[in-house]
Amino acid sequence: MATNVRINGQRLWDSLMEMARIGATAKGGVCRLALTDLDRQSRDLFVRWCKEAGCSITVDRMGNIFARRPGKDDSLPPVMTGSHLDSQPTGGKFDGAYGVLAGLEVVRTLNDANYETNAPIEVAVWTNEEGSRFAPAMIASGVFAGVFDLDYGLGRADTEGKTMGEELKRIGYAGDAEVGGRDIGAFFEAHIEQGPILEAEGKTIGVVRGVQGIRWYEITVTGQEAHAGPTPMPRRKDALVGAARMVEAVNRIGLENQPDACATVGMMQVSPNSRNVIPGTVFFTADLRHPDADTLAAMSAALQQECETIAEKAGLTLDFNEIWYSPPVGFAPECVAAVQKAADDLAIPNRKIVSGAGHDAVYLSRVAPTAMVFVPCENGISHNEIENATAEDLAAGCDVLLRAMVERANAV
Ligand code: GLV
Ligand code: MN
Ligand code: MN
Repeated sequence: MATNVRINGQRLWDSLMEMARIGATAKGGVCRLALTDLDRQSRDLFVRWCKEAGCSITVDRMGNIFARRPGKDDSLPPVMTGSHLDSQPTGGKFDGAYGVLAGLEVVRTLNDANYETNAPIEVAVWTNEEGSRFAPAMIASGVFAGVFDLDYGLGRADTEGKTMGEELKRIGYAGDAEVGGRDIGAFFEAHIEQGPILEAEGKTIGVVRGVQGIRWYEITVTGQEAHAGPTPMPRRKDALVGAARMVEAVNRIGLENQPDACATVGMMQVSPNSRNVIPGTVFFTADLRHPDADTLAAMSAALQQECETIAEKAGLTLDFNEIWYSPPVGFAPECVAAVQKAADDLAIPNRKIVSGAGHDAVYLSRVAPTAMVFVPCENGISHNEIENATAEDLAAGCDVLLRAMVERANAV
């Protein structure tokens, strides 16, 4: 490919802004929960754009969408890119959508340049990456990679009991293609960093060499509902007081494992949630992360021990479940090198980086050589409606993606 071929940064930005209108929030972000009507609209827009760009579309049984641009030798395994279009309830315009639309921009650029890669190029939209409506995160790329069964994926339910299978049918994205089970030459995912490192160091590209490990817990604490007035303090079995101590333990375990550990309680349901009833039941989640699997396992063991001790001392019942483990991942050297070379050849300031967030690339890395491209986001803020990134940085990341993909697609 001519070395002066560049993606169209304005077209990428315009597409991002048009996509961000679907589920736009008053504070400038996006609420586009997985498999809602808004998710359907974002998928429809993506599919329309891809068809206009000459791609063929396949949808698999988990609702993953694949837009394919043929290669010179169309029997070769595709070089794939992509990310997700679902968002957090108070999400931003770039988390996920950037990786999907950067892929589309790669296709559009190859079309403009009339350039044929040896292997086909595919752009994927993975269903329910965020895990905020249906836990865990990255379910559909996980089914694709054989980490989860199809039945497990389709059976995951939201808090109202609606399953992914039902909701996929309802929005018209229960496809008939088999999930996974095919060769992929390489997978690349472009994403905003979602942390502060690149911006702080004045680097435009993060060459992502891996992703830290993640463990998710669902914890239910049961005490006894009783009247807030007549019940003396010593007689109480207050589930929320117990849960509060456990939240404190989660935070302490994170602090005790610095510099790399993260530990978060992000969701809590208090029952019956009435101001003059002592809480009888509390359900909450915990999210523990660390790049080292052994340290993460030790954090997990410490949390379970702490929760058991707190519950026992307070006469509470504890139900402690680990519902997800995504082990730390190291990406494929040849794909990391392709990203590094692309950034260096374009003379874009870059550094190697480990992802703090989970991504579909984590599961893809089990079935294909994989790497990621990060670009900075403003103040390192993501999973927030104010999430922001510059058009220039997004374009630079897309140029790196284009080069890395073309290199891999022509290496066969
Ligand atoms: C997935 O997006 C995660 O990092 O929680
Ligand atoms: Mn994301
Ligand atoms: Mn996210």
